[in-house]
Amino acid sequence: MRSTTRIRQQLAGTPPSAARRVVFSGIQPTGIPHIGNHLGALSKWQSLVKEQREKQLKDRLIFSVVGLHALTVPQDPKKLLRERRDMFSVLLALGLHDQAQEGLDITLFHQDMVPQHAELGWYLNCVTPVGRLLRMTSWKSKLASLRNANSEDEVDESLLQLGLLAYPVLQTADILLYKATHVPVGNDQTQHLELCRDLAESFNRQYPGQKWSSDGTKSKGKGKGAFRLPEVMLTDYPRIQSLRNPLSKMSKSSPNPSSVLFLTDSPSLIRSKLKSAVTDSIPGVTFDPVERPGVSNLLSIHSGYSGQTPSEICDRFSGERGIVEFKEELIEVVSEGLKGFREEFERIRREEGWVGEMERKGAEKAREFAEGTMREVRRAVGTA
Ligand code: TRP
Repeated sequence: MRSTTRIRQQLAGTPPSAARRVVFSGIQPTGIPHIGNHLGALSKWQSLVKEQREKQLKDRLIFSVVGLHALTVPQDPKKLLRERRDMFSVLLALGLHDQAQEGLDITLFHQDMVPQHAELGWYLNCVTPVGRLLRMTSWKSKLASLRNANSEDEVDESLLQLGLLAYPVLQTADILLYKATHVPVGNDQTQHLELCRDLAESFNRQYPGQKWSSDGTKSKGKGKGAFRLPEVMLTDYPRIQSLRNPLSKMSKSSPNPSSVLFLTDSPSLIRSKLKSAVTDSIPGVTFDPVERPGVSNLLSIHSGYSGQTPSEICDRFSGERGIVEFKEELIEVVSEGLKGFREEFERIRREEGWVGEMERKGAEKAREFAEGTMREVRRAVGTA
């Protein structure tokens, strides 16, 4: 092999062929997820893995626990350490890890174990207009909630941390490092993905790099830039609401622990939390999020774990069979739906060493892809 060819291959890491998708997504290290997190992002990730297996696809799936993003708000070190380990263990138990022996190309890793994320983040910071970040909805809603929390209505914006403002730039780095073609995210992330595409484009334009001819040698003229523009895979998930107050989102930080159903809850906890879930006094079971938010929320949960549509479920509970029978079935559906996960999680919990090993291996694999891209970027920019 000519050395330039070898270098070029190293530069690009091992790029999958054009037909293969590279799917990248990330989740913050918030500890054990609740069913809202599961029915949202995580079950989508699981169905991507399932699809690979069933259709024998050869896409590259990359899932990351994004610890650096968690630092954009103050963290307690001990708690963070535990929560990033918990989230990683949950993702392992959900089957979102490397399964090369089955021909699946999956990488599960901690973003904070791969320094290239912060490195590319910096390169991208240097092509990002601050005005663009100040206009992000996520930034503006942070500001708004800070204003609400403060009794005085004046909040000094200049005291807010730079990292919080730059959050979407780091997210862009996550995606571009792996030359992702598809990014499954919820609605709230579309603006971040738009930024990602724009930054990739402006970076490519500003630093097109060198053109390479088909035999792997450098040829005259400009390249096309290091980055691919990723597509958003919008996942339209049901918003799961609190079991005690169906008008607000299910949230880990809720003061009432029975309002949140965690993935690791035992069958008896699942039973007691769902039994006491707030509904209403209207007879029967109907899906009407405005008039019957509690019942509708339970229907969304049922639907998420049974795969039946809310109207199919409602049909079975018309007439004599009411909310009590519906709740019984729901308890069964949720307990069953989480059974496999629960058993796997308990097994993993007893194997700390194995989890550590998976963390190390995942990071190593991610670092290899990431370093391939960074070499290209450094060359294009002139830092190597
Ligand atoms: N910002 C995302 C969220 O809060 C998490 C995230 C970080 C992410 N980096 C990413 C999602 C890259 C998709 C791709 O949900």
